[in-house]
Amino acid sequence: MTEGRWYRASAPGKFVILGEHAVVYGKPAVVLAVDLRMTIAVRDSRYNTINGERIDFKRQPHLRYLTRDVDHALEFSTESMIPVGSGMGSSAALSAALALALSMRRGDAMGEEELVEEAYGAELYAQGIGSPMDASACVHGGGIAVNLPESSDRHLWTISRGERTWSVSDVDVPDMTFVIGNTGIRAPTGPLVSKVRRYMERSSFAVDVVDDIEQVTIEGSQALARDDVEALGRLMTEDHKLLSILGVSCRELNKLVNASLPYSYGAKLTGAGGGGCMVALTDRPDKVCEAIRARGGVPYVVRTGVPGAMMHPE
Ligand code: PMV
Repeated sequence: MTEGRWYRASAPGKFVILGEHAVVYGKPAVVLAVDLRMTIAVRDSRYNTINGERIDFKRQPHLRYLTRDVDHALEFSTESMIPVGSGMGSSAALSAALALALSMRRGDAMGEEELVEEAYGAELYAQGIGSPMDASACVHGGGIAVNLPESSDRHLWTISRGERTWSVSDVDVPDMTFVIGNTGIRAPTGPLVSKVRRYMERSSFAVDVVDDIEQVTIEGSQALARDDVEALGRLMTEDHKLLSILGVSCRELNKLVNASLPYSYGAKLTGAGGGGCMVALTDRPDKVCEAIRARGGVPYVVRTGVPGAMMHPE
């Protein structure tokens, strides 16, 4: 069999301004896509390979799920600037870009809502638990709000699983500067989400903390809408404390958050936690980068307002 033509698509990473973990329980969240992208190309081939290596589908559950209806071998090639397992949505970006590339290969490019269903399906297949927040942000780009009623006039899609429903809306991307700090510690999302669930099952205190995150997120989204960096920063730092109480921060994240705070309006872990990345809201990005570097982290001054999943001509 001859090799086919390449189908190429990309999707952005993202960070969570407010609301991670609580969003799994249908609470609100606000997320921005960033200029760190994942690009994937796929073509028909003789063997299943990714970047030149044979694929072990047991170790690649996202690929396994997304290719479940494909009846012959494929070659994949990926390029990514998104740190892996770091709360920046690398697996959702991979799933969104791959779902788009595979739908192009079928000659029937998926729209945003179908892509979110497909990418979220891959996330659930791989990690068993979670919300469609990452998939929505990586597909749509720009900014999204989940379950925030005041943004419902820009409603994008509603996704349900079991008793949970997530209503996703488009939000304006604020003209603010965010610095990401990567601890370099990889922490898979599934076990952290399960840890919070077990804590909530055992303790009404944990349920109250998740309710407090909801409140902080609602107030933060209002601060965001009126460009109030001071209030938003204060609420981000408050959110970090609440996430720490839930047990999803770690020493390295706390170190980077604390190092950033003297030069920031606020700072918090972003994504699942346990390692991975933090984010600071600042108008002194150079100082924050220096502080993060001095504590052993890797800083990125991210650009927001970027496009979501898109195709690339061959
Ligand atoms: O670490 P990430 O990028 O997979 O983000 C996880 C966000 C959580 O709220 C912790 C889980 C979820 O599925 O919403």
